[in-house]
Amino acid sequence: MSGASVRRVCIVGAAGKLGRYLVQHALDRGYEVVGVCRPQSVGKLDGFAGRITVVPGATDDAAVIARAVAGCDAVLTVLVPFGVRQLATRTAQAVLDHAAPGARLVFSCGWHITRDGRDVYSPGFRLLLAVFGRVARWLRFADLDDQVEACRRVFASDTRWTVVRGSDLEEGESQGLPIWRRHVGDPALRSNRTQRIDFALFMIEALRDEALVHEAPAIVGRLTPSAQAHAAAGAEPGAPPTSSA
Ligand SMILES: NC(=O)c1ccc[n+]([C@@H]2O[C@H](COP(=O)([O-])OP(=O)(O)OC[C@H]3O[C@@H](n4cnc5c(N)ncnc54)[C@H](OP(=O)(O)O)[C@@H]3O)[C@@H](O)[C@H]2O)c1
Repeated sequence: MSGASVRRVCIVGAAGKLGRYLVQHALDRGYEVVGVCRPQSVGKLDGFAGRITVVPGATDDAAVIARAVAGCDAVLTVLVPFGVRQLATRTAQAVLDHAAPGARLVFSCGWHITRDGRDVYSPGFRLLLAVFGRVARWLRFADLDDQVEACRRVFASDTRWTVVRGSDLEEGESQGLPIWRRHVGDPALRSNRTQRIDFALFMIEALRDEALVHEAPAIVGRLTPSAQAHAAAGAEPGAPPTSSA
């Protein structure tokens, strides 16, 4: 299936901040949109009333996902590791199990996910991850290992996946399509900032970019200093990292 054939898109986690940007980008492209969100969050999609189909339910409920992805050419999934009951893993598995064969699947996560172990993390990043991960699990607020397992399953699947790894996010005007690199640690990513609206833009554009199938791009805002310095240098995505992020 080529990107040009995308017509109907399911957005899993549609009511969140990233999800609502995804919905808007999808509508702007003329896609039919089916959004999955928790029942208590349906009201956050009121701004799209009449323009999208909302399927209320837990994103890790296989029956909910099966109903939502039926007839969709593409599924965009916001993977979040909230709680300690494997929400991200169960959500990813439901999408992998029920999306139509050949559907284009795009997932969101953070830079801490590594596909091949060749990402290079700064000591500060690793310390933050270790401390936040322990505290979050102790408080039963989130389990970062859950998102790791979710992505491991996506990487191992024979679906047409892309896992987009976001830098730190901020709200603000679009800078255009973020740049990406295959490995964290690439100097082009050093600024570690992306507008949330552009994270969503990258995910939407990935639907039409065959080169991103089976890639886990780490992204950064295209107007950030590190991205601009890199653009001037003219290097290509995929170059091995030469310093820590
Ligand atoms: N925040 C960052 O700086 C950052 C950095 C790098 C990557 N990312 C990635 O970007 C993506 C979106 O992150 P975001 O921070 O922008 O969040 P977000 O878009 O606001 O998404 C949060 C999602 O989690 C759901 N959610 C919240 N609490 C929940 C709970 N207790 N149980 C079940 N679901 C719950 C929300 O659903 P409701 O709408 O129903 O509440 C919403 O769909 C994630 O994949 C994240 O890993 C974020």
